[in-house]
Amino acid sequence: MRLAPAFVRQWNRFAYGNNRNENGEMKMESLTVQMERPYSQFAPAYDQTIGWPTFLRTRRSFEMLAQRYDIQFRNAADLGCGTGLFANYLNQCWDVPVYAVDLSPEMLRVAARNCPGSKVRLLRQDIRRLQLPEPVDLATSNFDALNHLTGDDDLRVAFRRVAENLKPGGYFYFDLITPCLPISTRMVYVRKIRAHNRQVTQLIRWNPTRRIISIAVAVRSIGSPGTKLEFHRERAYSFAEVGCWLMDAGFIIRGVHDEATLRPASGCPTRIIVVAQKAMYRWSGHR
Ligand SMILES: C[S@@+](CC[C@H](N)C(=O)[O-])C[C@H]1O[C@@H](n2cnc3c(N)ncnc32)[C@H](O)[C@@H]1O
Repeated sequence: MRLAPAFVRQWNRFAYGNNRNENGEMKMESLTVQMERPYSQFAPAYDQTIGWPTFLRTRRSFEMLAQRYDIQFRNAADLGCGTGLFANYLNQCWDVPVYAVDLSPEMLRVAARNCPGSKVRLLRQDIRRLQLPEPVDLATSNFDALNHLTGDDDLRVAFRRVAENLKPGGYFYFDLITPCLPISTRMVYVRKIRAHNRQVTQLIRWNPTRRIISIAVAVRSIGSPGTKLEFHRERAYSFAEVGCWLMDAGFIIRGVHDEATLRPASGCPTRIIVVAQKAMYRWSGHR
């Protein structure tokens, strides 16, 4: 793919400045590129390139930690479910009804194909305003879905919404990227993934001051002209702030694990898995 150095240079500038016009177009020196909504172009290529390898890893981690914490559930919700591979797995392998929640209509369209069983119900909702039809025993959120909440209060609000939609004693299992990213702040990282007839190129830039990861995603179908571009933003969260917000929402933290080793987290892991449990009773503060 000719994602020329000029594009990288120009995008570099984009990652640091706000040079979109009112139509959402990105003005880059000599060319104007229409930036599409996150996951609108990536969705059909997601499973082939990132979805399946990620799902296999997520499943392995979940099975190990579910056993370790004796997580049992009769219904579940997967938040930021993407293409629904994990929701379908929960339904098929744990034999429970699952709510699969995502903001992107394009990702949900793929999820509808991946979850043919009637016991996976797809819901287009924002995690920050989560409203499930009934409380669940288990809520999961995998592969950086919560890092997509980049506003100052977003994650704190999301934790409260998740707690409200869990039964007392219900589990919340999720992963998060932390600010301990082993990448230089002066570089744009280019990651190319080619699978079948598609190529996805990601340009990744880390701003540690704002703790924002800016990702330009270019999707090209081999043999057809044109490259579709979209722009994602993720925010890294430290365990200190996550711990406070979980407790504030009424969770007890059962464990924090290094996603790479699944050992209890120590030092500064890049990605953590958190197992939290909604308290059976909430202390009201009144005597
Ligand atoms: C990196 S993908 C992860 C998808 C899936 N969990 C997986 O493991 O492959 C992040 C997903 O979060 C969704 N997402 C981002 N912000 C969201 C929000 N505020 N509410 C619901 N879903 C959101 C995106 O649409 C996308 O499908």
